Amino acid sequence: MADHDLLEKIVSLSKRRGFVYQGSEIYGGLSGTWDYGPLGVALKKNIENLWWRRFVEGRQDMYGLDSSVIMPEAVWKASGHLAGFADPMVECKKCKRRFRADQLADPKKCPECDGSLEESKMFNLLFPVDMGAAGTGGRGYLRGEIAQGMFVNFKNVIDSFHPKLPFGIAQAGRAFRNEIAPRDFLFRVREFDLMEFEYFIRESEWEKHFEYWRTEMWSWMEGVGIDTGKVHELEVAPGDRAHYSKRTIDFEFDFPFGRKELYGLAYRTDYDLKNHQAESGVDLTFLDEETKERFMPHVIEPTFGLGRTVLAVLSSAYREDELGGEKRVYLALKPSVAPVKAAVFPLLKNKPELVRRAREIFDTLKKDIPQILWDDNGNIGKRYRRQDEIGTPSCVTVDFQTLEDGTVTVRERDSGAQTRTSTDSLGKTLPR
Ligand code: GAP
Repeated sequence: MADHDLLEKIVSLSKRRGFVYQGSEIYGGLSGTWDYGPLGVALKKNIENLWWRRFVEGRQDMYGLDSSVIMPEAVWKASGHLAGFADPMVECKKCKRRFRADQLADPKKCPECDGSLEESKMFNLLFPVDMGAAGTGGRGYLRGEIAQGMFVNFKNVIDSFHPKLPFGIAQAGRAFRNEIAPRDFLFRVREFDLMEFEYFIRESEWEKHFEYWRTEMWSWMEGVGIDTGKVHELEVAPGDRAHYSKRTIDFEFDFPFGRKELYGLAYRTDYDLKNHQAESGVDLTFLDEETKERFMPHVIEPTFGLGRTVLAVLSSAYREDELGGEKRVYLALKPSVAPVKAAVFPLLKNKPELVRRAREIFDTLKKDIPQILWDDNGNIGKRYRRQDEIGTPSCVTVDFQTLEDGTVTVRERDSGAQTRTSTDSLGKTLPR
């Protein structure tokens, strides 16, 4: 069930505490763009780094890539995006506003002014780019999906590394889509980050690999702090699948504005390699060195929208409760994604000996845990609230006892429980 109140709270917290701002806000905002502030970029990078460590560095069958954002027209012709990457668009005859036809409650009536709507037309989502002076460099497109970078570099990776099947090529980076109706905060935007890989396999084994990646995707969601009780698989019907897919499962999440696609898992067959081979004239077949067979590999593609992950993680972590008789808001983020792992406070700001010792502890910890923060503003209760609201798992307070026995108070975010811990073991025991 939609909870628009929750979305408003998340958007407001995101702006207030420096997670996410409207793109180009001082100019009135640019629709479909959002800028990640200091805490948002830390959260996003933590998620991306976890993904990269798990799916690329943590494996021996995955090759990383960072390909260009601008790609020539031929790529998008071969991939089928020039012909097929489009949404149905309608225009209001009266106010001239444009809408996605498949998102309207009444396909004949304008939701803004009640005017009548034109017949729907297909609108291509690729952003064209005219390259060079006066377009002399030809027509290119900002990549509508990052997957094409993997396909056009397939031969390069094979020639450099001679991998055996199955293997994958992975990247995380920006994608651009000229969405007709951007909406719902980070959910549908015109410029967003994607993390995905193309996993190259033998055709006969596609079902086995599809099931493997399906399980892996669930495990990833659990690990990053997405409430998996709110995730639902949708077997996408043949008529609704992307043009390249023979089977797709969408992982839908109960976002505050309703159940919508979070991730996708697709069996892309050999559609892309076959078409790039035909369009480029370059042989993109794979030679099995052992059997000497030459064939076109098939592809399983798990895809993870990073902005949607951030939104699902924030929606899963947002909590309101009462602690010590006071209402509070906190983010129950996993320490591994939290933008700040710990905050260090001197109990009193005006006691130089406390501040000095707290600074020493902070400086030592900072070498080990870069994502820590110093805070000496206001009273301890206020500092705790501020850290709770941004999801900081631990607060370390340096008090007079610290000067005597070298212990500090470590306060845990969710329960508010406080324990005395030796400063020597802090670097090892603070969750991160
Ligand atoms: N290579 C496959 C591919 O791009 P997709 O379903 O079109 O598949 C992949 O997009 C993921 O990108 C989605 O599952 C979603 O997480 C994210 N995504 C798609 N469109 C988006 C948009 N306009 N804004 C934010 N995220 C988007």
